Amino acid sequence: MTPRQIQLVKNSWKLVREINPQLVGDVFYSRLFLEMPAAKHMFKTPLTQQYAKLLDMLHAVVTRLDRLDEVTADVRQLAIRHVAYGVKPVHYQYVGNALLWTLSQTLGKDWNDELHDAWQSCYTLLSDTMIAATGEAE
Ligand code: HEM
Repeated sequence: MTPRQIQLVKNSWKLVREINPQLVGDVFYSRLFLEMPAAKHMFKTPLTQQYAKLLDMLHAVVTRLDRLDEVTADVRQLAIRHVAYGVKPVHYQYVGNALLWTLSQTLGKDWNDELHDAWQSCYTLLSDTMIAATGEAE
């Protein structure tokens, strides 16, 4: 990611954090389950709690985009836990698409192509790390 992309992601994330998490979570899971119906049966904890965890993890990553080494170990452990949840590498693109779609809907007029590319790079960085850790664990 370029320094500008990092700044764009950080600034837009601040805006997303101001929106009711319940609302953002509803949009995210509705979109995910529409694109990947099989995911519905994978989540055992209530989605409200689940979304808060996802949001916290994303927050940890986004706020440290310029010093990712601080979160890499946590992200790798997260990925290994995901293997036990039944998550396969192919599933990461669905979560990425649902996340970007959710951001585009919630940011509305503040969303544009440059922001899309910045978030895409951010998610690719995160999911590549998770998928790599998954491969090593198996
Ligand atoms: C960058 C990508 C992702 C992030 C940051 C993320 C984050 C999290 C976090 C923080 C948790 C809470 C439990 C824990 O810490 O172990 C969790 C649980 C879970 N995630 Fe993810 N996740 C990602 C990708 C995915 C993908 C691709 C799937 C597949 C559909 C998925 C499905 C699940 C499931 C099934 C659980 C367990 C829910 C339960 O306990 O009922 N996640 N995720």
